[in-house]
Amino acid sequence: MNHQDPDRHAVDDRSNPRESPGQGAPRRGTAGEDLRRTGAAVIDSLGRYLDDSLRGAERVVPLRPMAEIAADLRARELIRSGGLGEGLGAWVESYLAATTRLHHPGSMAHQVGVPAPLSALGELVQGVTNNPMAIFEMGPGAAALEMTVIEWMLQRAGWHAPRWPGDASAPGSRSAGVLTHGGSLANLTALLAARAAAAPEAWESGGLTDLVVVAPPSSHYSVARAASILGLGARAVVAAPVDAREQILPDRLPGVCAGVRARGARVMAVVANACATATGLYDRLDEIARCCEEGGYWCHVDGAHGATALLSPRHRDRMKGVERASSLVWDAHKMLRAPCLCAAVLLRDERWFDAAFHEDASYLFYGSQSEGFDFIHRTVECTKSGLGLRALAALALEGERAIADYYEDRCALAARAAALIRARPGFEVPFEPASNIVCFRWTAADNDGQVAIRDALLRGGTHHLSSAEIGGTRYLRLSLMAPATTDETIADVLDRVERLAAAGLARA
Ligand SMILES: Cc1ncc(COP(=O)(O)O)c(C=O)c1O
Repeated sequence: MNHQDPDRHAVDDRSNPRESPGQGAPRRGTAGEDLRRTGAAVIDSLGRYLDDSLRGAERVVPLRPMAEIAADLRARELIRSGGLGEGLGAWVESYLAATTRLHHPGSMAHQVGVPAPLSALGELVQGVTNNPMAIFEMGPGAAALEMTVIEWMLQRAGWHAPRWPGDASAPGSRSAGVLTHGGSLANLTALLAARAAAAPEAWESGGLTDLVVVAPPSSHYSVARAASILGLGARAVVAAPVDAREQILPDRLPGVCAGVRARGARVMAVVANACATATGLYDRLDEIARCCEEGGYWCHVDGAHGATALLSPRHRDRMKGVERASSLVWDAHKMLRAPCLCAAVLLRDERWFDAAFHEDASYLFYGSQSEGFDFIHRTVECTKSGLGLRALAALALEGERAIADYYEDRCALAARAAALIRARPGFEVPFEPASNIVCFRWTAADNDGQVAIRDALLRGGTHHLSSAEIGGTRYLRLSLMAPATTDETIADVLDRVERLAAAGLARA
């Protein structure tokens, strides 16, 4: 069979490597030829989309009623009758018109990475090969990449290398990790390992009422969710002592943990932010890790957003102390610029993973293989994308130094933005940014007024901001992820806020 034959168009040719029926007929060639032809049209549209987004030419968020969008996309009709195959190139234009443009300079709302365009091609490779690599035989290449990415992250955290197949070094002499679909699932996984360390009986018996997670109120909501999912109950999350900026006060932490013990409960984990979602501020990991060592507590660092500081010679000290933590979460789909989703759960001692998961699935686990490693024993997921490819595709374009430059560059913009905002009368910046996140407010407006400003900017189509409450006061919030955002973008936002205020929209 000649797969290279360019004239292979015969519909009934049995040797034609076509897809099964019902996959977007009619077709004009082999499955591969169809992909190349339709794919070229889609890539063409995406190229235009990207250039328009980077120029800020279109609305950053095209808000319209959901039912209207679904009708435009002919979604119900397509589900019933199909037919998207040949028309995908044209249809994708209407889909792109309904997307939130993360590459747009005015996109400053959420902590979602803006992937370097070429790294998106890894998604295409994953989509075609569809290797669910959690067991080695279902994606040897993806598994090898995942181990390599984990190895690199562990090294950057200052921990041991992971165990590759054939490594007979003593148990516990290795650190370990797994990539998973998002920071929320990563936090759950890390806290599951903490639960196994504190209460090995929990997997079998459940019903734990004496375990407590000590976390700052500023910790991501997935921490409280994890406590509920793990059977501790959201009320098992005890507030770590914090200052007005919601950063942990390490010297008061031992007292809170002692209080937990005094009432007969056990500290399952202490959670620290690196950095906090709302403020972008880092907790003092060094002092928190020392307190955990002294008390014998699991120290979990949620570095979903900010662990990328580990790559930056200028800002690495923000993560100082992580080398003494028990677990670290690090999202590649945030500051490492991988496409969604790709998050790492890293444990300083590989044995903690062994204790975390117990499973019995005769169709998957029967015998051992020595060539590879089955990540399935470390993850909530069974079928899992080739996330190693996702992370590598982002990192390998220009190497880790380029990602460090990106992190430093966005943090430098945040510092300049804070200075620009402070220099304008009527605005307040509550604290110096410690990352690429900036909080500020228009002082003449109350909490609802800040939200009204954000909503007006969003509906104007030029700028997408978020908003967060810190200590009861609501702020506008910039998460400076898009490389296209500049000082001019910030100045433009401030001009618009002033005009909105003058028009009476942003009053207290
Ligand atoms: C500190 C922190 N942890 C966890 C998460 C959750 O990550 P994900 O959105 O990937 O589930 C976020 C999300 O912004 C975060 O900022």
